[in-house]
Amino acid sequence: MEHLISLKEWSPAKIREVLDLAKNVKADPEKYSQVMNRKTLLMIFEKPSLRTRLSFEAGMTQMGGHAIYYNTSTSPMGSGKETISDSIKTASRFIDLIMARLFKHEDLLEMAQYATVPVINALTDDSHPCQILADLQTIKEKKGRLAGLKLAYLGDGFNNVTHSLMFGGTKTGLHVSIGSPAGVDYSPRADVVADCCNYAAESGGSVCVTDNPVEAIKDADVVYTDSWMSYHIPKEQEDERIAKFMPYQVNSELMAHAKPDALFMNCLPANRGREQTAEVIDGPQSIVFDEAENRLHAQKAVILTLCSA
Ligand code: CP
Ligand code: NVA
Repeated sequence: MEHLISLKEWSPAKIREVLDLAKNVKADPEKYSQVMNRKTLLMIFEKPSLRTRLSFEAGMTQMGGHAIYYNTSTSPMGSGKETISDSIKTASRFIDLIMARLFKHEDLLEMAQYATVPVINALTDDSHPCQILADLQTIKEKKGRLAGLKLAYLGDGFNNVTHSLMFGGTKTGLHVSIGSPAGVDYSPRADVVADCCNYAAESGGSVCVTDNPVEAIKDADVVYTDSWMSYHIPKEQEDERIAKFMPYQVNSELMAHAKPDALFMNCLPANRGREQTAEVIDGPQSIVFDEAENRLHAQKAVILTLCSA
């Protein structure tokens, strides 16, 4: 049985396979309209969500299955009355597939350890692999390829989306360039950088981490940013983080250093005036809603892949 815990564990071949399937699912949804007939997905949420919840739930419906939204604040698991292992062993008796959006990545690992059905990471503080599969699908659609393109990420480097983007990007031959403030609280984790250097050496891509935003974005084909206030970041850090990240804000001036046909991406939710300006996210280079749509198609491909493994 297979899970999707992080793209670190997925081979480049597996990622390519899922992206190919996502393309087919998007092109011919009717063909997949009954493939999850009588199957149920459990969706465990400890954090808020718009895209992840809606795309998983709609995806299951569109494939003939059903999804249950389960918020841990109303669950014995969330209140500490029941252990993760008891909850997941029980759920596995009713359910065909589990996805979970959690704070601690270790809790997801524990779920996968006790589940007798596939488990999907729907975001932890550590990583967000479903997002990145949709992102790679989107880049491939728009640019016709992945390998050899420069993807620049600006802003919070010590971030779930950043880490997953680095894994997925370097495994598929992208040149991944991270522009973030120096320091362990703001730049990508050293072990992720080290792993990604190895993946890049195999794929022909590369990885670069710099605190210089202009260097990071220079000649990029794709420019990506994410919230400076991820769901798990306490409100009291807000002022300090705005001051730290402001030099990395994706605005027209910074975008001018990317290639003229560069695409702009943000996994959303977005805050205009923070990680990017309104003119960038609402401008002609932005593909954020195509990116959001592909969550649906990419996740259908993930579900089908895990259910047939
Ligand atoms: N991008 C993303 O995962 O969005 P939600 O938090 O709305 O699910
Ligand atoms: N880094 C963000 C991603 C939201 C989809 C967060 O964790 O909140």
